[in-house]
Amino acid sequence: MFAISLGDGAELRPLEPWQAEEFLAHIDRGREYIGVHVGLPDVTADLESARSWLQGYADKAAADAGRLYGIWLDGLLVGGVLFRIFDVRLGNCEAGCWLEPDAVGRGLVTRAARVIIDWAIRERGMHRVEWLVSSENTASINVARRLGMTREGALRENHPYRGVRQTTEVWAVLASEWPVRTTGTR
Ligand SMILES: CC(C)(COP(=O)(O)OP(=O)(O)OC[C@H]1O[C@@H](n2cnc3c(N)ncnc32)[C@H](O)[C@@H]1OP(=O)(O)O)[C@@H](O)C(=O)NCCC(=O)NCCS
Repeated sequence: MFAISLGDGAELRPLEPWQAEEFLAHIDRGREYIGVHVGLPDVTADLESARSWLQGYADKAAADAGRLYGIWLDGLLVGGVLFRIFDVRLGNCEAGCWLEPDAVGRGLVTRAARVIIDWAIRERGMHRVEWLVSSENTASINVARRLGMTREGALRENHPYRGVRQTTEVWAVLASEWPVRTTGTR
């Protein structure tokens, strides 16, 4: 239900608390890979915390303050895209993403992020979509580039993660820069 085709057997769908078991199994497959740069696996350590994280996004969606969507490939949940922040009043939002390792290298996140950013800008009137990424996370920086985002600067050593202070790069795209085209993957 409510699935958007991303092509090549991939679909974007809402990801909700009732799917906690499926979500946890997916996180378990990607726990090590995803955790290198982002703390998602640490806050979804077991079924209870996984459900609670999904519930947090359900609450955000109900308040129109965030969104969460899963990416299914041939029926298997393999990743997701989200709006961690969705501030309708200010017209600013922050997008994010993850994949389990077997789903990397197919353009799934670029395609999924295009769909949700397109919605945020065209339907919801967002002015600015941000992408905050560790300076060490080349794969995610490449996604920001493919989305046509601009690197605006770096928050030097602002984010302590697993004992190391990471530098966060800020990338963003403005509504005026978002292309009219809504199909295609590159
Ligand atoms: C960030 C992350 C999602 C990027 O995954 P990814 O598969 O490289 O990104 P995409 O889904 O956009 O796919 C792009 C890759 O698929 C290739 N590709 C194949 N077909 C493609 C298509 N139709 N369209 C776009 N890219 C395609 C691209 O060339 C690129 O591969 P390359 O980097 O080897 O050149 C992944 O590395 C990840 O989950 N990391 C851990 C969590 C994380 O860091 N999240 C981001 C936090 S800011």
